[in-house]
Amino acid sequence: MEASGLVPAWQSGKRLRMAFSPLVERMSTTVHSQFVAWFRSAAPYFNAFRGKTFVIAFGGEVVADGKFGVLTQDINLLRSTGIRLVLVHGSRPQIEKQLKLRRARSRYHAGMRITDAVALECVKEAAGLLRVELDALLSQGLPNSPMAGAAINTVSGNFITAQPMGVLDGVDLQYTGTVRKVDAAAIESCLAADNLVIISSVGNSPTGEVFNLSMEDVAVATAKALRAAKLVFLSDAPVEDARGRLMPELSAQEAEQLLAKGKNLTADTRLYLTHAVEAVRAGVARAHVVSHKVDGALLLELFTHGGSGSMITADKLERLRPATIDDIGGILQLIEPLEAEGTLVYRGRELLEREVQTFFVIEHDRLIVGCAALYPLAGKSAELAALAVRPEYQGRGYGEKLLEHGEVEARQLGYKKLFVLTTRAAHWFIERGFTEAAIGALPEPKKSLYNWQRRSKVLLKKL
Ligand SMILES: CC(C)(COP(=O)(O)OP(=O)(O)OC[C@H]1O[C@@H](n2cnc3c(N)ncnc32)[C@H](O)[C@@H]1OP(=O)(O)O)[C@@H](O)C(=O)NCCC(=O)NCCS
Repeated sequence: MEASGLVPAWQSGKRLRMAFSPLVERMSTTVHSQFVAWFRSAAPYFNAFRGKTFVIAFGGEVVADGKFGVLTQDINLLRSTGIRLVLVHGSRPQIEKQLKLRRARSRYHAGMRITDAVALECVKEAAGLLRVELDALLSQGLPNSPMAGAAINTVSGNFITAQPMGVLDGVDLQYTGTVRKVDAAAIESCLAADNLVIISSVGNSPTGEVFNLSMEDVAVATAKALRAAKLVFLSDAPVEDARGRLMPELSAQEAEQLLAKGKNLTADTRLYLTHAVEAVRAGVARAHVVSHKVDGALLLELFTHGGSGSMITADKLERLRPATIDDIGGILQLIEPLEAEGTLVYRGRELLEREVQTFFVIEHDRLIVGCAALYPLAGKSAELAALAVRPEYQGRGYGEKLLEHGEVEARQLGYKKLFVLTTRAAHWFIERGFTEAAIGALPEPKKSLYNWQRRSKVLLKKL
């Protein structure tokens, strides 16, 4: 097509315009600008995700409940942004159905299925049928639908080598197995050829036997072997704390603490969270647990600042530390808009470079989200200045953490009084133990240098 200079209609954007024009026409100006603002805000994610490998793992219920049809649209969108996708699926309800048809009984030990010869037939049948169904759903491409022009090539294969689980507490689990090896090179070559890889929870042994595996184990082993940027589990409920509040971010340690005492977790969410911790501890950069019951939850989680589910990382994303010369760019980004509107005193790059050792910063996921500086004044006094938190990160306690750190440091350095000069945030400091003071309370030469045009309020805290 490209060689002849002809471009398919959907590639030229014509079909897209046809698909979206009625919608766009109905949009009000506010909705237009919201859409444009949102689309632009997603650009950093597109850039960061292009060429990265994501493993998306879900149980067979997502297909059984009819949720996969809508999910394919989101999967298609992820693919079109250049993300390399591997889907790992379970098939528990489909196996149960097959067992019922055969009037056979499900047998479990320690939460694991005992896969006897009949159950194994059901596993094979369920995995095969599900695979065909997933292929069909991913092949949709009706014009005027979000799947128009999708052309997703799916590939599956003998990527997983399995070994028998063996005998547990005297119970032979028969054809229930564990992952022995993942053929990462074979999966990589399929992804490099722009295929979407689908992996079922079955594996083969070198002796030619088939084993029934747990979806979570396959997902973690695959993400580990591929050094995936993300492993996303689609669960039946989000990760919530004991008071029912969504936990948007957890370090592996926090996730373990929650698992130890969390009563609000469903069995699936508990299982996926446990495996998410295992994955990040083994080097997968990020794991997510997202509810499949919320339409578009996957997109919200990946492309919006707030997300919709929980992101699990090996270590805490947040770090308070002294600033270095490499932070100048990040600090300037943070304070320049505040300087421009007059909230903070203008410093400029040169001054900042000279004074950077007085600054400390809070970083979140390697982005500087807050800063403050501690300047010595005469007479065992210090000034806390340039306290700022990025607008989208305000209200999370970062301001308070920076202030606390400033106070601790000032005490350690032997200062007895901490001053703040502020035009806009006097109440914020008063609520945190500062009192308004006269300009005359400032030590010299700060007092003489007081800027009468800015008319900042002087606040003081005795340490
Ligand atoms: C002041 C500032 C640092 C607070 O940062 P933050 O991370 O949002 O602070 P916290 O999360 O610890 O506190 C949030 C609380 O402070 C309140 N708050 C925020 N700005 C405030 C202000 N100017 N006056 C009074 N209260 C304020 C919020 O409403 C919120 O209250 P709530 O917990 O009752 O909802 C931030 O608003 C900022 O960067 N402001 C612009 C720069 C500035 O004025 N710096 C001070 C001069 S050095």
